[in-house]
Amino acid sequence: MAAVKPLVVFVLGGPGAGKGTQCAKIVEEYGFVHLSAGDLLRAERASGSPDGDLIQSCMKEGKIVPVEITVNLIRKAIEASGKGKFLVDGYPRNEDNYTGWEKYMGDRCNVGLVLFFDCPEEVCLERAMKRGQTSGRVDDNIESFRKRYHTYINETMPIVKIYQDKGKLRTISGLPPPDEVFAEVKKIFDKL
Ligand code: C5P
Ligand code: MG
Repeated sequence: MAAVKPLVVFVLGGPGAGKGTQCAKIVEEYGFVHLSAGDLLRAERASGSPDGDLIQSCMKEGKIVPVEITVNLIRKAIEASGKGKFLVDGYPRNEDNYTGWEKYMGDRCNVGLVLFFDCPEEVCLERAMKRGQTSGRVDDNIESFRKRYHTYINETMPIVKIYQDKGKLRTISGLPPPDEVFAEVKKIFDKL
């Protein structure tokens, strides 16, 4: 019996572009499972994993954790859920993430499309600073934010470009209020 491969939608955008907010809405309306790479890494660190210190220092410096760690967490979460449709949020963030996915997950999942939230740096900054008042995250401060944004421009945008060239990218402005952004998201998911 040929099993149907799980469907994966990658969700990308700068820090504070609204990835998590929109993913929560997509889960509600379209029954996807939301897997945030950042949340999986934070949970791994909090669990007392031997990789915890590395994860923490990467986050603070806005750097990307080696793919072996991240892709393994995503793979385990997909397998454990037993479900068939996933939003993988905040991944692939760089070349290492991209090639690691091809290597470890390429023939296990079907990447349907890549949702990209485009949002100007200063708006992202404002949101991250607001979130920092309650998030307790090590990286919702101005120094870490600038480093994260730098990584996004230099390492993530080339990956976004790859998906654009493949015709898989769907770009949405992350600037308007969440419900307005979601109205655009719906146009894409209604057709999926
Ligand atoms: O997506 P989020 O803002 O939660 O990511 C927080 C941090 O987690 C990133 O700045 C990065 O240090 C780490 N991360 C990573 N690899 C990913 C996703 C997140 O290293 N694919
Ligand atoms: Mg997030």
